[in-house]
Amino acid sequence: MQTITVTHPSGSYPIFLGEGALAQTGPRLAELGYQGRCAVVTNQPVGRHHAEPLLASLRAAGLEPACLTIPDGEQNKTLTTVADLYPQLVEAKLDRRSPIIALGGGVLGDTVGFAAATYLRGVPFVQIPTTLLAMVDASVGGKVGVDLPQGKNLVGAFKQPEMVVIDPAVLSTLPPAELRAGMAEVVKHGVIDSPALFEALEERSRGAEEQGSRGEIFSSFILHPSSFLYEAISVKVRIVQEDPFEQGRRAVLNLGHTFGHAFERLANFELRHGEGVAMGTVCAARLATRLGLCSAETTQRIVNLLDRLGLPTEPPSYPPAEVWAAMGADKKRQGNTLRFILPRAIGQVDIFDNVAREDVAAILTFNV
Ligand SMILES: NC(=O)c1ccc[n+]([C@@H]2O[C@H](COP(=O)([O-])OP(=O)(O)OC[C@H]3O[C@@H](n4cnc5c(N)ncnc54)[C@H](O)[C@@H]3O)[C@@H](O)[C@H]2O)c1
Ligand SMILES: [Zn+2]
Repeated sequence: MQTITVTHPSGSYPIFLGEGALAQTGPRLAELGYQGRCAVVTNQPVGRHHAEPLLASLRAAGLEPACLTIPDGEQNKTLTTVADLYPQLVEAKLDRRSPIIALGGGVLGDTVGFAAATYLRGVPFVQIPTTLLAMVDASVGGKVGVDLPQGKNLVGAFKQPEMVVIDPAVLSTLPPAELRAGMAEVVKHGVIDSPALFEALEERSRGAEEQGSRGEIFSSFILHPSSFLYEAISVKVRIVQEDPFEQGRRAVLNLGHTFGHAFERLANFELRHGEGVAMGTVCAARLATRLGLCSAETTQRIVNLLDRLGLPTEPPSYPPAEVWAAMGADKKRQGNTLRFILPRAIGQVDIFDNVAREDVAAILTFNV
């Protein structure tokens, strides 16, 4: 079992990473002094596979868990879901010392985290992420919240967990398309801050390519997620520690997301987030190359790696004016200029606030 400690302005918390971590949640909580009532909040697709071993571990450690289920899906990441959850927390007799444990992907973690931040003005919170995206991104850094009809993540809080439990074994039940989408964020973390992670992914995917098809490459990765999870999580940890309240540097985590969100929006969200991020990361790299910030070889390495992982690398052929308009609607917009996170090299990115519309249009028509 590996432990990564995350420090934040009011303390620190451990991330426990390793096969079997889920079943150790009970003893870990008991070690932190928790006893009596607690709540596991999950949803149907996750709970049916993974709730029972978690509940057993909590009971064996002397805790008394209530198991609550909320509806699945981004469309339910809402204040309504949170409002429906509060009375169930009261009924389960949770008090200020009773932890709420979120067992699920990023949608569930964000929603339940917001409930934990607000119920009784905040109760202890534990994240057990069950998607690759939630393991390397959403569960670390303390951002929780829900969507409004007007946009994503418009209501939220910073709520640091007591601990994060990451058990790669739970990925065995995750649909392959979700795994692949999560890999886009892993690659993103390599480009942002870890040449070692990026090179390890390249090496592994090349090795697998020699042995078989693209599908097989992918399963060979997923059979060994531990080989990249530690470093992918560590990138996120380093960045949130530097900028816990997202006032500056943390924006680099949005590499590929300005383009990606625009593609998602133009596709009426029928595109997976990770697919948008993959195409968006390629666009950011091409833009950086056009602006003389990053070599064409670096951009090609990013394209090759994403492609070998089965992710899309060619931006969809929307007219550049539509993409620009969709990007302007993104909440990361600053005044009248569009902000982009652009790579200078693998492991090095910067924030650029004044990127011209012509340059963006030029890279979008790159292959037409
Ligand atoms: N808080 C943050 O810092 C942060 C960062 C990045 C993303 N996010 C948020 O994360 C959300 C996306 O999260 P996601 O990609 O994990 O999607 P998700 O939570 O919707 O999970 C995808 C699907 O897989 C199911 N699932 C999850 N784990 C499973 C498992 N082990 N076995 C079987 N099915 C499983 C889910 O129930 C869901 O149907 C977005 O709402 C985004 O805003 C938050
Ligand atoms: Zn993302």
